Amino acid sequence: MSAMRHLLDLCKRRGFLFQSAEIHGGLRGAYDYGPLGVELKRNVSQEWWNSMVYQRSDVVGIDTAIITPPAVLKTSGHVDQFTDEMVDSRLSKERFRPDKAPELKLDDQGRIPITAPDKNTAKLWENDIRTQFARGAMITRSGKQILMEVERMERDRIVLKQDPSTTSTTSDLDSSLQIPYHGYVDPNSNSPFLTESRPFNLMFKTYLDPIDPIDKVITTTLDAQKSSSDLSNTRQLVDKVLYPSLTYLRPETAQGVFINYMTIQRSHPHLRIPFGIAQVGKSFRNEIRLEHAIFRTPEFEQMELEYFVAPWQAQDQFTSWRKFRMDWWRTYARHHDRIRERPHTQDELAHYSSGCVDVEYLFPWGWGEVEGIANRGDFDLSKHSEATGIKLQYTDAILMQERQAREKATGQKENNTEVLAKERYTPHVVESSCGLNRAMLALMLDAMEAVDEQGRTVPLGEEKGVRTIMRLHPRLAPVKVAVMPLVSNNKDLVDICTDISNRLRQELQVNVALETQSTTIGKRYYRMDEIGTPWCVTVDFDTLNDHNVTIRDRDTGEQRRVSKDEAIDIVQDSLRLYPRHSRPQQTIAA
Ligand code: GAP
Repeated sequence: MSAMRHLLDLCKRRGFLFQSAEIHGGLRGAYDYGPLGVELKRNVSQEWWNSMVYQRSDVVGIDTAIITPPAVLKTSGHVDQFTDEMVDSRLSKERFRPDKAPELKLDDQGRIPITAPDKNTAKLWENDIRTQFARGAMITRSGKQILMEVERMERDRIVLKQDPSTTSTTSDLDSSLQIPYHGYVDPNSNSPFLTESRPFNLMFKTYLDPIDPIDKVITTTLDAQKSSSDLSNTRQLVDKVLYPSLTYLRPETAQGVFINYMTIQRSHPHLRIPFGIAQVGKSFRNEIRLEHAIFRTPEFEQMELEYFVAPWQAQDQFTSWRKFRMDWWRTYARHHDRIRERPHTQDELAHYSSGCVDVEYLFPWGWGEVEGIANRGDFDLSKHSEATGIKLQYTDAILMQERQAREKATGQKENNTEVLAKERYTPHVVESSCGLNRAMLALMLDAMEAVDEQGRTVPLGEEKGVRTIMRLHPRLAPVKVAVMPLVSNNKDLVDICTDISNRLRQELQVNVALETQSTTIGKRYYRMDEIGTPWCVTVDFDTLNDHNVTIRDRDTGEQRRVSKDEAIDIVQDSLRLYPRHSRPQQTIAA
């Protein structure tokens, strides 16, 4: 079993994560978070918020609307440019992104093997190829595989071998045997029979109107038909009717920050540049390809920081934020070799961006982006400023007062443009944009370890005699401590457990499990290891006399006999972020 399958099985069995609406057949790309998943997701988000907002004096939080008017997203460029290229496979009808699709593969005899999901589908595809897509080509079928003989490969086309038994002349077949090739094939079948690639906007549209937009489309179309038989303008008419109620589900949380920049600055005058605005919330993208469970979904959560800096600070701040964020990842992930920064190449960079790196995690299927850190220049504020006529600038009140004092003293107005440009400018933005669901997936995979009966680490996928330990950072663990009676039906022991778990809840304000299942204590420990609980506290018959308990460490399996107070202290200490880790740098010098 693959590591991902292992994790998803565990997630479903233990109530972290499961397919949404499963009893109704499920919805592709939609996931629900169960009691443990919701705790883990909240903890990841809380750790992010703690490091980005609570531990700094230069960042404040915000929570903006998801439903966004077109003007905002037209200004940001999303309406016109937030597109992916899309291609349809003509055989399977699957839709995919060409930039992520593999190159054509040939078998060891130089033939193109096209793989159908089953034998019957292969028969149908073979017929489609023979009658529509490559008439006269030399092909054979073996089980669910169709094999096509290749005459030669050219730069932008594949020339197929002609079946000598065909009666048509070569000139008839020329176009049929030449398949355009742009360097990719259907990722599932290796088929080169594809539509041309076309752009597709990723945003979800919705209409703020009690009248169903489809009714409006029908009525408008019928009216247009009545007044003229020329329907060429109908699309425009329909757009015009729908536009007043058109809105989008935001594709990123960042725009909510930019459009509120001025209001926040005015309401929080203590915020002097450099300062940041953080937001955690849902974003929506109509992704062509949904993949790897919660790695890529249409509905997901982002944790974003927009950090406003003076233009001359931008490069240093970008460098500083890269380090800050990598330190954050290294605090919570155990395998530092599975985290890396990947700087964008020049052709990946947006035209306004002077630097961007992806933070990537080594997932079971390869490196995948979990966060982007970008130096966005003044693009966002300038665009919203241009569109609204509202100056989204920053005035350095101290520099301004100093200049005014100098002007008063000398009786002369200063108009040195360099001095004035330092006093008032459109801030540049350094952005850190992290996917919460992806972060959770990465951190779970990172924490998951399989051990054999002797407690030795074994590769994930071996099933016999293997159990899982989720070695999550204690601050991320969904349950911080499980309190359990040695014998689950003994009222005296259960009463003490109830008392200890209530004290833990009240004193530490954390999620505590009172574990009274009637299985062996060993099995109960293992169940807690599997969900990442760092500590188990066991109450036994000796506790009735000496008031001590046994506390067990998830990672070492070590058990210590301690007083109840000591047990609480041990849990509390393990949850302290400092001084176990060095305090992150606040800001860098302006
Ligand atoms: N404001 C910049 C921005 O949104 P992005 O690289 O498009 O940048 C940032 O997205 C992060 O959001 C990604 O690194 C990823 O972790 C997460 N993300 C993006 N699309 C996602 C999707 N469809 N499903 C899950 N997470 C996604």
